[in-house]
Amino acid sequence: MTVPPSSGSNPLLDGLRIEPTPAPTALIIFGASGDLTRRKLLPAVYQLSRGQRLPARFTVVGVARSEMSDEQFRQQLHDSLKEFAGISKPDDVSTALAARLFYVHGEMDDPALYQKLVAKLKECGAPDGVLFYLAIPPTVYGVVADQLAAARLTEPATPDGWRRMIVEKPFGTDLESARALNQRLHKYLDESQVFRIDHYLGKETVQNLLVFRFANGMFEPVWNRRYIDHVQITAAETVGVERRAAYYEGAGALRDMVQNHLMQVLALVAMEPPIAFSAENVRDRKLDVILSMQPFVTDRGAREHVVRAQYSAGWVNGTEVPGYRQEEGVNSESSTDTYVALRAYLDSWRWAGVPFYIRTGKRMPKRTTEIAIQFRRPPLHIFKRISPTPIAPNLLIVNVQPDEGISVRFEAKLPGTRMQLAPVMMNFRYGSAFGRPVPEAYETLLLDAMLGDATLYARHDFVEASWALITPILDAWRSAKADGLACYEAGEWGPREADALIAADGRRWRTL
Ligand code: BG6
Repeated sequence: MTVPPSSGSNPLLDGLRIEPTPAPTALIIFGASGDLTRRKLLPAVYQLSRGQRLPARFTVVGVARSEMSDEQFRQQLHDSLKEFAGISKPDDVSTALAARLFYVHGEMDDPALYQKLVAKLKECGAPDGVLFYLAIPPTVYGVVADQLAAARLTEPATPDGWRRMIVEKPFGTDLESARALNQRLHKYLDESQVFRIDHYLGKETVQNLLVFRFANGMFEPVWNRRYIDHVQITAAETVGVERRAAYYEGAGALRDMVQNHLMQVLALVAMEPPIAFSAENVRDRKLDVILSMQPFVTDRGAREHVVRAQYSAGWVNGTEVPGYRQEEGVNSESSTDTYVALRAYLDSWRWAGVPFYIRTGKRMPKRTTEIAIQFRRPPLHIFKRISPTPIAPNLLIVNVQPDEGISVRFEAKLPGTRMQLAPVMMNFRYGSAFGRPVPEAYETLLLDAMLGDATLYARHDFVEASWALITPILDAWRSAKADGLACYEAGEWGPREADALIAADGRRWRTL
């Protein structure tokens, strides 16, 4: 599919389009020697710099416990670009960026560390904007916030200045801890300064859901219970727990993927049109979705709507892999969920009676994330006599990753003298349509935070409302221990119990 040029577009003007650029900013990364910084943050900063999206006065100050010099931190930039961004040797952009990188080390609860930060910021010319990025274990989020406030680092130095904080996931481990963390951060920062990151919201295809639904006239009229039979959201990964057992053992798929990423995706699919594309309007309407969700735990417990499972040994991509309980750092009797499937209902005028099915798992046969919207069949099958096979319902698929795009399935006439029908697909692919790479979620999100745009960040009330739905499931599982934990072989599409969940409604999971 090709994309027609907009009428009157002048390619010479392309470079002159006014893109907002943040005010002079210092990005202070707590957890600068960690994985996230190397894999995502430094490459994202590099790409932004390359795209000339950073302010002329821009500094990165890395903060961590391990000792490192500025020089070593700069080398870390080059190494991470080599490993994670395919930039094999320093170029003009990375060299210029490296010169703007600094590093301070210390214990997160030590006031001396924050005095070093104060001094470093002065040295960097006390930029108007300071963006703190908490890429550290959640147990120290509160401590860092307390210390930043004590050192008065949360207060802007000039009238035009600003202070913002990006908080990584997980934001709490249940409703109570999420509430407590919100309250602690709000002691020093108001909501407009707190940016709870959910990298799914930065994914191009997820953002496009808003454009697809609200910048087109033809989809919204059918986007409701009259025309839609059900929605399936799948996030499948081939990887196992990797080296993250210490975190994952206490998290599991429900906390790790559903409470945040998949609830956000579901909210974008189901939300009412906001009155404007602004952070508050969009987030208000998303909140409505979460508030309209029926509880997952009913009188019959959690099992009616939720299936949890764990992978056993198997084969993925032609490689034999161990079961979850045999992974390094995992308890041999662990009841942690590596797979979750659930059925959600929204009590809203638009969606009453339409099930939203969600499934996510590690060690699935394929890495794919998609949203499939299945429409109702036409009310009358007038071709029944001449083409007796049942017609496939229309399907709209948003491929979130890896093959980003949108596909529509509809019935067509098979060429020939007979009237025979067959389902066909119409595909839109980002890669071929726009001929440019899709940016990494972290680029978009970092830039937005520097610009003060929180549209793609999670608001406190959404996070709490989502935990309010998820926490009762966790409570039910805790008291059931391993009872009810299903099993699937690594390399399979989840347990039989998940098939039974959807089959009970006369439907089945899409084959991916
Ligand atoms: C993270 C989870 O938030 O998202 C990981 O902690 C998961 O367990 C990852 O693998 C999936 O992200 P993506 O972008 O690869 O779909």
